[in-house]
Amino acid sequence: MNNKKCVCVGVTGGIAAYKALEVVSKLKKHNIDVNVIMTNSATKFVTPLSFQSLSQNMVVTDMFAEPKAFEIQHISLAKKADIFLIVPATANIIGKIANGIADDMLSTTIMATKSKVIFAPAMNTNMFQNKIVQDNIKKLEGYGYKFIQPTSGRLACGDTGEGKLADVDTIVNKVLEEINNLDTNKDLMGKKVLISAGPTIAPIDPVRYLTNRSTGKMGYAIAEEAARRGAEVILVSGPTNLEKPNCVKVINVLTNEEMKNVLLDYFNDSDIVIKAAAVADYKIKNYSIEKIKKTEEDLTLTFERDNDILKILGEKKTNQILVGFAAESNNIVENAKRKIKDKNLDYIVANDITSADTGFGSDNNKVIIISKDGEEIYLDKMSKKEVASRIFDIILRKR
Ligand code: CTP
Repeated sequence: MNNKKCVCVGVTGGIAAYKALEVVSKLKKHNIDVNVIMTNSATKFVTPLSFQSLSQNMVVTDMFAEPKAFEIQHISLAKKADIFLIVPATANIIGKIANGIADDMLSTTIMATKSKVIFAPAMNTNMFQNKIVQDNIKKLEGYGYKFIQPTSGRLACGDTGEGKLADVDTIVNKVLEEINNLDTNKDLMGKKVLISAGPTIAPIDPVRYLTNRSTGKMGYAIAEEAARRGAEVILVSGPTNLEKPNCVKVINVLTNEEMKNVLLDYFNDSDIVIKAAAVADYKIKNYSIEKIKKTEEDLTLTFERDNDILKILGEKKTNQILVGFAAESNNIVENAKRKIKDKNLDYIVANDITSADTGFGSDNNKVIIISKDGEEIYLDKMSKKEVASRIFDIILRKR
């Protein structure tokens, strides 16, 4: 982190307030300037002095104690904070903000800030599941407020269920992630990025199909990174179990043909097109409309070639930067370079699929990025998120 960031931690009155001490302590270890605001009820659970000692800043509690000081404090903290974190967040503070109520120091400051606000709720299960609380959360999410989902477990009241404050590390990591986002260079702002991810399927009959081992992780990481850097992103995805990345338009497809059609719809209007999908090269020749019944004989399926989507896009290319992936098990560079030529690509990202801890399904990847001029960039094993970031650095030549 380059310059010191300021996190304002709002502590409300719940038994989990003591865990906010650990959050503050961990944030301090990341060289963050932490300022704490406590509600009156929070001070019944933990003393302001504890937060003051850990944050090494004065703790703000009562807005009416010193009217003049309040005026300065709530505006200055609202402006100074890069991130606001409410931990633990009670149903009360969530309800207040969702309904525009600002009647104490914390709610007033949250209402006055333009920075990102993250709530880490903790409360009794029934309270958390109460429709009113859930509606308030949805409403706030709609306005861009973030929530760290509480976990399930034994609660202080003796009940077991959802409502337990998320792990301290989860909370701290979320804050660090948001701080990292603040620092991101929006170098893809104004660019339209089209990405394909995941496998495609080749249907055999109404109940059966063939597919491959792609999980979509690489393509989703690329989509997330592009959005983080300010691009307008469309992700054309085969079937995966992954969550939709933030700020990305996802279009789900199943077959090669569907993926081709959607990509062609958006291709002309795109600046950068990255094909990370593992597309089926063949489809079943005689798709059976009826379910195939078993017999005593062997079953033979005949395949016919399906579209090489990337090749079709390469033929249509005008100003787009076109990037392909090459899944190889041998002669990696040689095969990848051939694919650059055959498919008229600008770059290809080649990976060795025989390696166990990279490639399909793994969170990591080890790739060689090759340009159409023959430049070969060998990257060490790194997370798919990091690979995604390097791909854009290279495309934009910001190494
Ligand atoms: N690709 C595609 N359509 C296909 C096959 C592949 O668009 N029918 C794209 C992939 O999304 C990838 C690139 O082409 O970006 C290379 O895919 P890969 O499976 O490595 O290569 P193939 O061209 O299928 O060649 P081979 O299977 O013979 O290695």
